[in-house]
Amino acid sequence: EHLNATGLHLLPGAIDAHVHFREPGYTHKEDWETGTASAAMGGVTTVFEMPNTNPPTGTPDALRRKLDAAEKAYVDFGIYGLLAEDNLAHLESLIEGGVAAFKCFMGNTFGNLPSPSTGAMLEGFEIIAPHGLRISLHAETASIMAHRQTRLRAAGRSDPLAHLASRPAIVAVEAVSRAAVLAEWTGARIHVLHISSGDELAPLRAAKDRGVDITGETCPHYLLFDEHAYARMGSLIRVNPPVRELHHQQALWRGLADGTIDMIATDHAPHTTDEKLVPDIWNADCGFTGVETQMPLMLTQVAAGRLSLCDYVRLSAVAPARAFGLYPRKGALVPGADADIAVVDLARRGVIEAARLASRGNITPFEGTEVTGLPVHTLVRGAFVMRDRQLVTARKGHGRSVRRVQSMPEPVLRHADQSLAAVTSVRL
Ligand code: DOR
Ligand code: ZN
Ligand code: ZN
Repeated sequence: EHLNATGLHLLPGAIDAHVHFREPGYTHKEDWETGTASAAMGGVTTVFEMPNTNPPTGTPDALRRKLDAAEKAYVDFGIYGLLAEDNLAHLESLIEGGVAAFKCFMGNTFGNLPSPSTGAMLEGFEIIAPHGLRISLHAETASIMAHRQTRLRAAGRSDPLAHLASRPAIVAVEAVSRAAVLAEWTGARIHVLHISSGDELAPLRAAKDRGVDITGETCPHYLLFDEHAYARMGSLIRVNPPVRELHHQQALWRGLADGTIDMIATDHAPHTTDEKLVPDIWNADCGFTGVETQMPLMLTQVAAGRLSLCDYVRLSAVAPARAFGLYPRKGALVPGADADIAVVDLARRGVIEAARLASRGNITPFEGTEVTGLPVHTLVRGAFVMRDRQLVTARKGHGRSVRRVQSMPEPVLRHADQSLAAVTSVRL
């Protein structure tokens, strides 16, 4: 297949370490076909999918059901296994079954999975650490959150800002600090999901400086919105953790620039319009679709000169590949080295419209946002899954499960690290 890419740029396909594709259990919100089609349309070639489905991905049986559902995938995917209070006995078999990483809900969110005690977390970290799989944390402290929310609701606060007020950054700071100590004790690799505040950067930086293998991500909505979004959008902007004040947003940009925050992920969390636009913000589901809008939104920041293209590639592809161990390996194809490519037009303009996204999530706080920079083709392991802004429907089922590469000797891994770091972009 011949491709004329004159004037376009070849970037490594984005690796989104944080998506919720809802199947099994909540397919009215999304499923593996619509979720991965959305990824393909967004220049995303690998996703890591979260375990708060029904059943949650905490047992070998639930993992099999998820892998069955994922057979429809257009793009490659890593499956997150759940680390919870009551499934420690299943962790080893989840690893054998092929999970790419683990997710631990320290705070409560969609799916109502109870957060594990610190004791259970410690035990889970001990079990997982020798296998090297990274443990990603929804780092919010459930007990503090529950107390604050009860107080605000009792006070009759159902204005949108009550949601922001219910989650002061201390909720996240406490959780990041505690998880980092557990990682330090056990040698587990950890990852801080959806960093929303400047306050979390100090414990993250401190843990890195102590040699903890800890990475962190933030999301486009924390980089592009601030507290004024509540007055404009009401319950639509509700997300866990919340979009915060402008000074936090500015701190996150600094965290990206100085390397404290390693990567950009989306927390793609689709819900229906009915579930988002409700009179009482406490009854609105949290989150929104995101996997398809990340690249256009961030390339727009590149066009605006707020981010270099090299930094974008590092944040969207190189850092997640390294953090989750997606190295080239002999005899097998893994992302990062096997023609997982987004071909982008940095000058092409567009407008974000939820109705035109491939995701079933039909509402986004970025509705009407003008963007500059669009992926025009997406290739997964050398095959087009999106071509000329059209989904290649014949590639349904092309996506493969990925997992951390463990077996390579250290010098080979170091070399792979260097070549990943050397990847930037090619102008044609
Ligand atoms: O806003 C959110 N939505 N935050 C989460 O942590 C979960 C997610 C979801 O699954 O809806
Ligand atoms: Zn979360
Ligand atoms: Zn999430």
